[in-house]
Formats: sequence, C-alpha cells, structure tokens
Amino acid sequence: MTVAMTPTASRLAPEQFLERFGRYFNRGRIDAIANLGFLFVEGRAEGVYFEDSQGRRFLDMWCMGGTFNLGHRNPAVVQAAQAGLAEEDFGSLFFFSEAKGLLAEKLAQCTPGRLETTHPVVTGGEAIDLAVKLARGSTRRTAILHADQAYHGCTGFALSMMARGEMRDFAEPLIPDFHEIRYGDAGDLAAKISDRTAAVVLEAVRTDADMAVPPPQYFAEVRRLCDATGAKLIIDEVVCGMGRLGTLWGCQYWDVEPDMLVTGKGFSGGVFPMSAVVTRPECLDFFAESPYRTISSYAWSNVGARVTRAALEETERLLPRLAALGDGIEADLRTLQARYRGALRGVRRAGMMFALDFADAATGMAFLGLMFSLGVLVVASSQRLEIVKIYPPLILEKEHVAEFTEKMETALKSLGS
Ligand SMILES: Cc1ncc(COP(=O)(O)O)c(C=O)c1O
Repeated sequence: MTVAMTPTASRLAPEQFLERFGRYFNRGRIDAIANLGFLFVEGRAEGVYFEDSQGRRFLDMWCMGGTFNLGHRNPAVVQAAQAGLAEEDFGSLFFFSEAKGLLAEKLAQCTPGRLETTHPVVTGGEAIDLAVKLARGSTRRTAILHADQAYHGCTGFALSMMARGEMRDFAEPLIPDFHEIRYGDAGDLAAKISDRTAAVVLEAVRTDADMAVPPPQYFAEVRRLCDATGAKLIIDEVVCGMGRLGTLWGCQYWDVEPDMLVTGKGFSGGVFPMSAVVTRPECLDFFAESPYRTISSYAWSNVGARVTRAALEETERLLPRLAALGDGIEADLRTLQARYRGALRGVRRAGMMFALDFADAATGMAFLGLMFSLGVLVVASSQRLEIVKIYPPLILEKEHVAEFTEKMETALKSLGS
C-alpha cells in the first residue's frame, strides 16, 4: 500500500521562505541553523526519505530522535489517522470511547509486568512532568534523582532535570529537590537514594548527551535500590522505546520493570502528537481522594489513540527483523571504522541505536555537513559534537543500508583519513 504524496508541500526555496515568513520566526534560531549550513524548507516526506522544497531527497537516519521510527507517513499509521478523522475528533477529557479503551488495553498488554494504567498526554515533556508528579503524590516525598547530563524535555519538572545550561539558566529558579546521580554508576545511586526519594528518573540508554550505555547489571541494581527505599522507578522511553533498542520498550532491553514508563516521539507514529505514562496501578491510588488532580484538554484524543495503536502494532510487526538489520548496519560501520580510524575512532551500538565517535568536534561536524550535502541526515549529540548519533528507521531495507554505507564512505574519504 502506498500513500499519495501531499500536493501542498512547500515549493519555496529557503531565501524565498525567509523573505516572506522569516520575521514570524525566532531570528536567532534561523541564523544559527543557517550558519551551520542546514537551512531547510521541508517538502514531501515518505518512507525512509524526506525532501526539501526544491525536491532534494534525504535519507533520514535520525528519524527526529525516533519520531519517524516507522518512516515518514507510514501507510498503516496514515490509514488509522484517516479512518479516525472520518468518524471522530479529540473527544472529551471527561468521556470514554472504544478508541481510548483499545489503546489503554493494548498498552497494558505490551508493557512488562504490572504496568497497567495509562495516562495519555501530548508531549514527552508533559509525560515526564506527569510521572514526576505521580511519584511525588503517591509517595508523599519530594526528592527526585536523575542522571547527570540528562535531557527529559523543556516543561517544568523536566526542565528541572535539564543538564544544558543555555536551556535552563534563563528560567531559574526551577522546581526544588532535584538531584543528579552519575548515569550508569549504581554505587553513586546507592549513596544518594534514601527514604526521602520519591523517584529515580532514567533512560535505558542516556541518549541526548553521548549515547551512554550502562553496565549490564545497572538496572537490576537500580530496581533493587528503589524497592529497598520505596522510591518509584521512572524510565523515560521517549527515545529508547517503540523499537529503538530492538525491543518494544527500552526497559525490556535490560529486563527491568519500572513503576512508570514514559513514552513519546515514535508513539505518535510520526503523524499525531501523542505521549503517555503507563504506571503500576498503585501509583494512582492517591487519586481516589480527588480524581481530577491532573487533566489536559488534548489528552485522550480518539484520533490519536487510533494512530498510536496502529503505530504500536506496526512496531511489533517489525521487531523480528531488527536484530539482523542492526547486525548488518553494525558490520558496515565497523568495516568503515577499520578503514578510516584516523577520523572515526569508535562505533557503539545498542539495538537499533548507533553512535560514531569521531576524533574531535570539528571532525564530527564536518562529517555531518558532508553527509547532509550527500543527502543523508544524521545528527551530533547535543553536548558532545564529536559523537554522531544514528537512529535508522525500523523499516530500512538492504538498499537503504547500502546507500548509507556508500555515502558514509564518500564522506569519510573527503575527511582525508
Ligand atoms: C529522552 C527524552 N525525554 C523527553 C523528551 C521530551 O519530549 P518532547 O520534546 O515531546 O517534550 C525528549 C525530547 O527530545 C527526549 O529526548
């Protein structure tokens, strides 16, 4: 099944776009992107490719952090959106519907263990905020432990865990009683967790800063320490979930069951903004006193619920192919690393997530620019520009892997290593 390309995609070149619309956007942001050489006006998008307004085609090996895990405008997801729009809308936050029921039931079935109760919200940051609030409400404690160099979004509680100074300093003072732990260091958590700790918030792999993969026993120890102190374990699956680590959820990669699982990005199927917190039932017991402690107008969308259920089913359908797909990509990356080790110092992998460790930030950025000019989108870690992240679409076929490898070799050659 194919989905027709949208006929209204922009045809404006970047200069024309800026002349007409530039003043309506944050100028600093436009200039920063232009200075990096990435000024881009979006055109059509389909499958593993997206185009700019002039029809230049790009292989999407970033997937906007996982939002496009299923490719752009995945037919099954678009069909669910179209069917939903033909009959329903957001619905009401006070009412129930079959679409909402089916999504909640699906999530209870496809998440591990006792994760059973779903709270849909719109963005990942909102979902993180909600999970932290639920932890504080259900434990009646306030202290939150989170990873150093973490990124969980730009909303209130999420921002209070923000490592990037430029994104948080101007908004200080933030919410108190948030404390850093060293990611992957169970000893550091053991030293800091206590009966004051409401929650420990972690990603299955620390994605934003450096793609740090913790030691194999880390999450078992984190779970044990949370159980021993009564703290809630919140796993942020906004990037690591929805198949990114080769398992449906990142917590399954480590065989750990959190008290709350936070999902977003790919949960939207790339077409309708949806995020959610899935919790163990007891995290919500305190709602009995007042059922409307937290509400949101656009949560529980009927159309979104249909889209997300289709995205979950599609992701599950793709899971069996991911180990072989990931092995193929890894083999190619390692071959290139052996050939161009002067520039490319290392290759790391967790499931369908890859990191390239370049010699320095300048080499990493030069590589990004070369790949962009060759029609491939990859990005650098926000806090370490020498680390390039690759999040391939889960629908990638052999010919796309070959295209990526060939273009990567061309870029590495021009780096002169
Ligand atoms: C790990 C992680 N958590 C949470 C978020 C926040 O999601 P959103 O941008 O939808 O608010 C992000 C966004 O990039 C993220 O990478």
